[in-house]
This record gives sequence, structure tokens and C-alpha cells, in this order.
Amino acid sequence: MKVIITADHAGMTIRNEVKDLLEEMEIEFEDVGCSCESSVDYPDYALPAAERIANGEFDRGIFICGTGIGMSIAANKVKGIRCALTHDVYSAKLTRQHNNSNVIALGERVIGPGLAREIAKVWLETEFDGGRHANRIDKIKTYEEK
Ligand code: RB5
Repeated sequence: MKVIITADHAGMTIRNEVKDLLEEMEIEFEDVGCSCESSVDYPDYALPAAERIANGEFDRGIFICGTGIGMSIAANKVKGIRCALTHDVYSAKLTRQHNNSNVIALGERVIGPGLAREIAKVWLETEFDGGRHANRIDKIKTYEEK
């Protein structure tokens, strides 16, 4: 699995926590910023990172901002992206099993780095259930093709 990580200025601490986790899990990843402490615009990071998942360069993404909301809204504009804003472990597991999410968004002003790590770990370890859930995702794909 190849994972792309991105964060705005409000997501730096969780970004570093998630990078430590990925190293521990021996998962290949690329961090595409931001690299600065000054204010940046989350779409400038979410959209290009989401495109690199949509085009097959990466399998999954973990996007972090203050609330996770801006990153999730932007990511879900990219065709083929199923981004879940996830602030609890149960949702992290279910969004893999039922939604086959390929991105999670996390909000550093909402949860701490410890919970973010647990959420990311469960999300990375959980497989898609397929079956009836695949039919539902196919309906979203059909809509995207219109
Ligand atoms: C930045 O202040 C903040 O708006 C951003 O990180 C994010 O929370 C937006 O949804």
C-alpha cells in the first residue's frame, strides 16, 4: 500500500504522529506538505494530493487540517475519491468496511494526536467488505460518470 499525506498549517502535529505510525507499520508514504508554519489554503494541498490517488499513483490518503472539514470537502470534489471525515475509531473501521474510503480527513483542533493515531491505524488495517456495499459504491461511480 502507498499512502499520501497532506496537512495545512493547522494539522502539523497530527501529520507528524501519522508519519510515525506509518513508519512503525512499514507502510510506504509520501508527505506533500505543507512545510511551513504560516497560514496556507487547504484546497491547494487536498486537491493535488487527491488527484494523485485518483490517478492510481497512491492507494490511500490521510489529509489533516484544523477541523478536517475543509480537507474532506475538497478531496471529495475529485472523481474517484471517497473521503471520510473520521474522529472516532468505530467510524474509521466502518468507513473502510462499508464505504471503501480511500482518504480520511482528520481535524487537529477536534481530536488529539493519540486518538488520531488509533483512528489511522484501524483505518489502514481494515479491508473493504464488498458485496452489497460494492453495489452502493457503484451507484456513486455511475453518478460521477454522468
Ligand atoms: C484554518 O484556519 C482552518 O480553517 C482549516 O485548517 C480547516 O479547519 C478548514 O476546514
